[in-house]
Amino acid sequence: MNVWLKTSGLCRHYRRGPQEVRAVDNFDLEMRRGEFLALVGSSGSGKSTLLNMLAGLDTPTAGTIEIEGTALSTMNRRELAAYRAHRVGMVFQAFNLIPHQTALRNVEMALYFNRTPVKDRRSRAIDILERLGLSDRIDHRPGDLSGGEQQRVAIARALVKKPDILFADEPTGNLDRENAAQIAALMSQLNREGLTVVVATHDLHMMQEHAHRIIRLDYGRFAGETVLPAGTGADS
Ligand SMILES: Nc1ncnc2c1ncn2[C@@H]1O[C@H](COP(=O)(O)OP(=O)(O)O)[C@@H](O)[C@H]1O
Ligand SMILES: [Mg+2]
Repeated sequence: MNVWLKTSGLCRHYRRGPQEVRAVDNFDLEMRRGEFLALVGSSGSGKSTLLNMLAGLDTPTAGTIEIEGTALSTMNRRELAAYRAHRVGMVFQAFNLIPHQTALRNVEMALYFNRTPVKDRRSRAIDILERLGLSDRIDHRPGDLSGGEQQRVAIARALVKKPDILFADEPTGNLDRENAAQIAALMSQLNREGLTVVVATHDLHMMQEHAHRIIRLDYGRFAGETVLPAGTGADS
């Protein structure tokens, strides 16, 4: 397996008064480029903590994360900022869009930290919104969009940076079944086009038909994995 992302002995422990919370505990993972991974576990099992560390938004208390052989811990601030700004796209359950800005501006703003020339920002934002079926929603503010549309804007905001990897933290958690299924199918399509995808979810069923591999988390620990048939021939 051509390993693209690797974690070894990854830990994120919190001190809560006299107690230690092991949000992520001794977690080992190897992932190849182009893989579609679902991280499944009940609420509190450490999914968000793990994703945030992989995305460079949080720092492990022990263990390592390597991307193409380079440990995030060896990157300086500037390199880590570049990792977040260029290589990682992040999608959250709660969309996290800026309410008083249009869909277009919400997407465009992701490029402010991305060294994209000003003249290219707008066209790139429009292109990706169109690709996600939002051409006629470009000037709408989040409050005037449905939940499914808001999540597609949030995905557009993540994708406009042309990331290597998309992390999605319960992206279907706030959606009805139909919209959730559409978002799951969209992630699958993006993955077939080459994007590496990691989705954290407590809805095993939702991702089962799309993911190549399902990893179960329990109390921050690896609790087993299932390799799905769709994943076996996906080494494209
Ligand atoms: N900032 C924090 N301080 C203390 N404990 C935390 C913090 N963030 C998360 N935790 C704890 O870590 C565990 C894992 O949380 P989380 O990663 O959010 O799980 P999930 O996303 O699977 O619901 C939970 O017990 C949670 O209460
Ligand atoms: Mg979570």
